[in-house]
Amino acid sequence: MSKILVTGSLGQIGSELVPALQKKVGKDNVVGLDIREPKEDIGPFVNQNTTEREGLKAVLKDNDITQIYHLCSILSAKGELRPWQAWHVNMDSMRNVLALAVDMDIKKIFWPSSIAVFGPTSPRNNTPQKTIIEPTTMYGVTKMAGEGLCNYYFHKYGMDIRSLRYPGLISYKAPPGGGTTDYAVAVFYEALKSKNYSCFVSKDTVLPMMYMDDAIRGTLELMEADKSKLSVKTSYNMSALSFSAEDLTKEIQKHVPDLKVTYEPDERQKIADSWPQVIDDSRARKDWDWKHEFDLPKLTKVMLEKLGEKFAKEKS
Ligand code: SER
Repeated sequence: MSKILVTGSLGQIGSELVPALQKKVGKDNVVGLDIREPKEDIGPFVNQNTTEREGLKAVLKDNDITQIYHLCSILSAKGELRPWQAWHVNMDSMRNVLALAVDMDIKKIFWPSSIAVFGPTSPRNNTPQKTIIEPTTMYGVTKMAGEGLCNYYFHKYGMDIRSLRYPGLISYKAPPGGGTTDYAVAVFYEALKSKNYSCFVSKDTVLPMMYMDDAIRGTLELMEADKSKLSVKTSYNMSALSFSAEDLTKEIQKHVPDLKVTYEPDERQKIADSWPQVIDDSRARKDWDWKHEFDLPKLTKVMLEKLGEKFAKEKS
């Protein structure tokens, strides 16, 4: 039986991936790791910083870990406030995970890359799997380096590292935190709370996005795919839909007509403008049958329902 470690388990992806993995392999076989403490019982959990190698080594050993989903990372906007801190957290933790995986014969790893790996010199529409990669954020630089390490560890050590270039992820479990695409999460919170949202990107900003359920299902499908079919050793382009900030506002207003959104772009606009608008993910669709399910109307409806339930629960 696989014993899986999920780093960054209390983050946006981790908080949804852990229960999905627990459903597959059993609660006791998934160990969450984070530098924060969980607020409720979420199954086996360790409080550990992944930049500290000895501590991480003990976690891997004590729990007989055979697979790692290494999610912890500082995102784009937060990363620009303290770029070397982002480098330290994102790269030193990855270095520790990879080095320990070799030492401890852990052969299967998932690591997330991002649309942030692309930069202003990449084609912005139908961005191909293989193209110019010149990111202009430190977060993107760590994704570029990380993809290089995935490829390197495959060729040098035969390690089975699987990776996705996630678009902006929209989800209700974890609050928005540190990403440029997080405006598309924050607007849902305010639609239900204050009915006023000041959006930090312009109304015509178009970015690739995905509902979290699609991202989690895609991640698990990639990890279960036949290894011989996976032709990409860096990270797969993965996409679902692209919309502008105004498209999203209009869709939410169908449910919350009195929502008011103003557009006040700040330094995050520059980050958004350096990223693709539409991603070509045909390689993922061909190699491991990737398909998304959530379009804008479906995603908007589910987000409002689930967030509404969450707020009601928090009040009671
Ligand atoms: N969602 C991330 C961010 O905005 C991109 O991977 O930083």
